[in-house]
Amino acid sequence: MQENQIKNNRAIGIFDSGFGGLTVMSAISKLLPKENLIYFGDTAHVPYGSKSKKIVTEFATKISKFLVKNNVKMIVIACNTASAFSLDYLKKNIKVPVIGVIKAGSVMAAQNTKNKRVGVIGTEGTVKSSAYEKEIKKYDNKINCFSKACPLFVPLVEEGWNNGKITEDIINVYLKNLVDKKIDTIILGCTHYPLLKETIKKVIGNKINIIDSANAVALAVQTLLTEKKLLRTSGKAAYKFYVSDGPQKFKNIGSKFLGKKILTVKKVEID
Ligand code: DGL
Repeated sequence: MQENQIKNNRAIGIFDSGFGGLTVMSAISKLLPKENLIYFGDTAHVPYGSKSKKIVTEFATKISKFLVKNNVKMIVIACNTASAFSLDYLKKNIKVPVIGVIKAGSVMAAQNTKNKRVGVIGTEGTVKSSAYEKEIKKYDNKINCFSKACPLFVPLVEEGWNNGKITEDIINVYLKNLVDKKIDTIILGCTHYPLLKETIKKVIGNKINIIDSANAVALAVQTLLTEKKLLRTSGKAAYKFYVSDGPQKFKNIGSKFLGKKILTVKKVEID
């Protein structure tokens, strides 16, 4: 086998605090079906959204080192909170290319908004970091951003309450103010929110563009691998799943996020 081919056969490492990042993995596997993928869900430490930058960066660093040991060719931080807190640190300290999810969603939103009023929803950590606003302003500093942390959305999705009256009411309480600000675009700035997309649409109406960045992230991965001549273009793809706790639960709930059955999940210690 040629040296290049061996290099390109290495997997893409993807990680999140838990299941949510599987929505990003799903988009990557659809766009790049030949790529080998390794997913790490930090189920022992979820949620990241209410934790500090320091602790999330410590977790993210340990996971990235684990992925590098497993010979990945690049790392995708599929978690919005970890992207907001730890991308810059990992880019400097991890020896393979690292991308997060904030830039792709920000650029998509900036390109979509007509009235330059964009809503951003995410975890407390993501919203406090202002990472989306900073990225959007880099693209066009005339865009006004209005953000809102929606901490109840993650447990709702984990319980499978993706729709129904209670979920609609909660969405309405969180998003009413953003709608009143006349936003024409809203970023789903959290891995779990794509599963609420239809219900969010029902509550806020069809006129507001909903940006789900998973596809944009997959495109960014494709661009990076193409530039670095690391794309894998033939052969059957293999997927591996690792968690820091509860492999059985990950199998059951994760299949819903990924959109296909997860057969084997391995529990590993990264501390
Ligand atoms: N993965 C997190 C994110 O996208 C949501 C879940 C958590 O708080 O850990 O921000």
